[in-house]
Parts: sequence; structure tokens; C-alpha cells
Amino acid sequence: MISIKDVRKVFPSKQGQLKAVDDVNLEIKEGEIFGVIGYSGAGKSTLIRMLNGLELPTEGSVTVAGRVISKIRGSELRKARQEISMIFQHFNLLWSRTVSENIAFPLEIAGVGGLERQKRVNELIKLVGLEGRENAYPSQLSGGQKQRVGIARALANNPKVLLCDEATSALDPQTTDSILDLLVDINKRLGLTIVLITHEMHVIRKICHRVAVMESGRIVELGQVLEVFKNPEQPITKRFVQQVTVPEETKETAEHLLERYQSGQVVQLSFIGESVEQPLITNLIRQNNVTVNILQGKISQTQSGSYGTLFIHLDGDELEVNKAVDYIRSQQVGVEVISNG
Ligand SMILES: Nc1ncnc2c1ncn2[C@@H]1O[C@H](COP(=O)(O)OP(=O)(O)O)[C@@H](O)[C@H]1O
Ligand SMILES: [Mg+2]
Repeated sequence: MISIKDVRKVFPSKQGQLKAVDDVNLEIKEGEIFGVIGYSGAGKSTLIRMLNGLELPTEGSVTVAGRVISKIRGSELRKARQEISMIFQHFNLLWSRTVSENIAFPLEIAGVGGLERQKRVNELIKLVGLEGRENAYPSQLSGGQKQRVGIARALANNPKVLLCDEATSALDPQTTDSILDLLVDINKRLGLTIVLITHEMHVIRKICHRVAVMESGRIVELGQVLEVFKNPEQPITKRFVQQVTVPEETKETAEHLLERYQSGQVVQLSFIGESVEQPLITNLIRQNNVTVNILQGKISQTQSGSYGTLFIHLDGDELEVNKAVDYIRSQQVGVEVISNG
């Protein structure tokens, strides 16, 4: 669906040539939710803007839905953009138009007639859950509602690809989740290919199938989201993964726990993928003569399985505790004994 070949984008700057995107190769499949994560200045926006021709590559080629975006111009490019739409961090709505009129705007440009246009707008309003807000102005909407208008407008002309540039970065965590749920829903319902860029691993883990990590214009790591969580290779990737897998209080907890327990062992479990924490703990207690205290944890779901960290304290006869640790090790879970009472 999307093919990025040997793409480089250089901007002139005072310090000479600035390589915003450097030697990027990427294939994105139809129906995929593909995430690009990186810190500010990594080149994410420049990369995504080359997918709809807002930027032209200095070198290389970009093909989307059979069109060589990096070559076409004028009316051909405008036509392509109806199939490759975009949503933005700050929504980019027309402030003097109502919700309905904002959503109708791309339909007007595409020359869709009045009656059909109104029908389509109503469909879109329903799809994004904005019933009752049709006549409101953007200034009267919450951030989440504004982004829903942005999404409805982006979907108006039945695009094949939706590009999201930090689409949830201006939203609070709860609203972010509801917008991400909407994107997953749209992806499943319409089979839409979604490319999103973000600096938040939470966004990646919640909805993406695959992720590319970008640093200084380059893609330094690429893989299935769960695989990347399991085996982050680059230091930058490890840092991003830690954003969502390791409780912020980890170090404090570990030290605290060491003081709190005179006997037994404190064990840190890392869950990834198929392994589910609930049966493991149940079996642990059933099959071993130990007491298990759950101390702290941060476990959540990706599109293809759960991952996270759980701290437990195991107490009892030393032999039994060791047997319990062996049992955990035999399961699909990472084990680290962090204190030995
Ligand atoms: N139009 C432009 N002219 C000059 N430099 C630019 C332009 N757009 C982006 N850059 C530079 O390219 C680099 C990558 O920017 P950007 O793609 O916006 O990164 P990100 O979206 O990951 O924060 C930055 O150093 C930025 O200053
Ligand atoms: Mg950006």
C-alpha cells in the first residue's frame, strides 16, 4: 500500500545541510496500523508529510496506493490527496464553520452535490459519535470532540490511507484513549490503512500493529509491536518501552521492599504476549506451599497480547520458595529475583 524507497530529505540550514530524513526504506501493508515513534526533531513529521506530497523527497521515491506521490503534481496530486488524508495535533479546523460545515468542506471541494453531501455528513457525524453537536462551532467543543471533527473530515472522501501527525498529543490521557479506540474502530470497519507518528509509547502499544523507531532522520528499529516490547535492541527503543512497562516507582519500590521483608524473596516478573498474569499467580499458589503477595505492577494490553511488570513477594520454607521461583521460570515470563531475604 505504501512504499518508501531510499528516501532522503535535506533542508538547508545555517549549519549547512540538515538531513531531516536520512535513507529511509519502509513498506506498509494495506489495512495496517503503522506507528512511527521518536523524540522531537527526529524527522517524523517530515517523513509523514512526504506520504501526501506536502514535502518532496530530496532523493528516493514514495508510492502510496499505486501512485508515485514523489513525482506527481497539480491536479493529479490533489486527486491523490483525497485518498490520503491527514489529521493533526491542533486539529486545523475552520473556526467560522460549524461541525457539519467543517465535515462538508472536503466534499464541497470534491464537487459532491448538496443532498448527497448532507447524507454523507450525517453518516460521518454518526461514525465519529458527534450526534447532537452538528451545529456547534469548534470553539464550543472539547479537544476530543475537535479531533472527532478532524477525523470525520478526513474520512469524508473515503480515503485509503489516514495519516495522523501527533493526533492525540494535545489531549488528556482519557480523551487520547477514546480517540485511539475510534481509530481502531475505523481501521477495522473500513479497512483503512493508518500511519501515525507520536512520541508516546502508550499510543503505539495501544493500537499499532508494527512500529518504527526514528532517531536523527533514520529508522533505527522496526518490528511487530509485541516483538519490539519483548526485545528492544536500541537504547532509544528501550527507553520508549520503559515508558509503559516499568512502573515509575520501580527503584523506590525495590529498595523499599528490601527493607520491608526479612524473609522470602521479592521477584520481578515481566509479562509479554500470550502469558497471562492471572493463571500464573493462581497456579503458583496452588502448586507451591508459599504465600504470594502482589506488591505492585503495571500490566496492559497491546493489539496482540499483554505485557508489563509485576512485583511479588514469595514467603515460606526456603525450599518451597525456590521451587516456586523455578515454576515461574518455566513459564513464559521474565523473572528477576531482586531481593533475597
Ligand atoms: N521546512 C523546514 N525547513 C527547515 N528545517 C526543517 C523544516 N521542517 C523540519 N525541519 C527540521 O528537520 C528536522 C526534523 O523535523 P520534524 O520532521 O518536524 O521532526 P519531528 O516531527 O520528529 O519532531 C528538525 O531538525 C527540523 O528543525
Ligand atoms: Mg512533528
